[in-house]
Amino acid sequence: MAQQTIFVRASTGTYPVAIGRENLHRLHQFLAKGELSGSVFVVSSPRVWRLWGRQLLLGLRGHVAGTILFDDAERAKNLQTVETVCRQLVRAGAERESVIVALGGGVVGDVAGFVAASFMRGVRLVHVPTTLVAQVDSSIGGKTGVNLPEGKNLIGSFHQPQVVVSDPQVLSTLPARHFRSGLFEAIKYGVVADRALFTFLETSLADVIAQKPSAIELVIGRCATAKASVVQRDERETGLRQILNFGHTIGHALEAATDYELFLHGEAVGWGMLAATHIGMRLRKISGGDANRIFRLIGKVGGLPDLSEVEPGRVLRHLRADKKTRYGRLRWVLPRQIARAESGVKVPDTLVRQALEELAEIREQPLPTK
Ligand code: GLY
Repeated sequence: MAQQTIFVRASTGTYPVAIGRENLHRLHQFLAKGELSGSVFVVSSPRVWRLWGRQLLLGLRGHVAGTILFDDAERAKNLQTVETVCRQLVRAGAERESVIVALGGGVVGDVAGFVAASFMRGVRLVHVPTTLVAQVDSSIGGKTGVNLPEGKNLIGSFHQPQVVVSDPQVLSTLPARHFRSGLFEAIKYGVVADRALFTFLETSLADVIAQKPSAIELVIGRCATAKASVVQRDERETGLRQILNFGHTIGHALEAATDYELFLHGEAVGWGMLAATHIGMRLRKISGGDANRIFRLIGKVGGLPDLSEVEPGRVLRHLRADKKTRYGRLRWVLPRQIARAESGVKVPDTLVRQALEELAEIREQPLPTK
């Protein structure tokens, strides 16, 4: 597949999401096109830097004023890390005209994005996502932020990048578990927005997992297109964008209830999508046939961590701290059919508790269709 460029129309201007092999080598071209002429500071993690730092430096033709690395475990996505990165930027000579290049997965992107949003009241940002989660979802749309012990992404802001440069080749070094975790976010885009993507994942999952170039590029491109389309209609999540939180209500609570240690983000979203689909069926929002397609596809990706260690009561407590509450009441995103979801749904607590208790069985044994 040739190079793909998808444009995101944001309030701060339109920016490209460039997807293609060798993009890392051509990084300087994207910065030049975006007239990003200030000093460049790279924010990354030690692991990603070890694997791809040299290529990035070559791609930027060596024009890097400083490199700041931090441990990108979900637990490190906090205000302390933001302060550390900002102080390192000051000491390295960063200023308002500087450009931050975020090289890494979702945690690096969220932290570097929040740093870019707040350092000297905002500097320019370039995302170079290196995980599937980041390439299909988190690098696009300008969400930045960090976690609190009370919940995920509770501190943050919207700060759109100048450009997102995705190179599917960097996924070759991604551990299999992390790659699979990203597939759950890709499934999300199929369920909420793109029937053809969902069907493609059903029929060609093996090619995607094998990272066959045409298959993986199709998935990244379609997710990016779906995300751009939603974000430009509702940049600040006042309505439509909420559908992108499908699976995230329980997903975030699972992550927080297990101190961000048991689940990768996509895995928690995988469980969350199962739960939301289960609730959707119980509320007769989605047909049994479509619900089972969702259950089956998630099951086919597989590898979701066992829930036996997770206490439903703790998850419920974290659900109450969720950002998706409106006037004190949690609102859910439920699937209506493949490629259509409804946001803002009120769900009785009893049904939520029931879904939580039955989650493990849902995965093993899809619910009956009637
Ligand atoms: N990850 C969902 C969003 O960006 O809105």
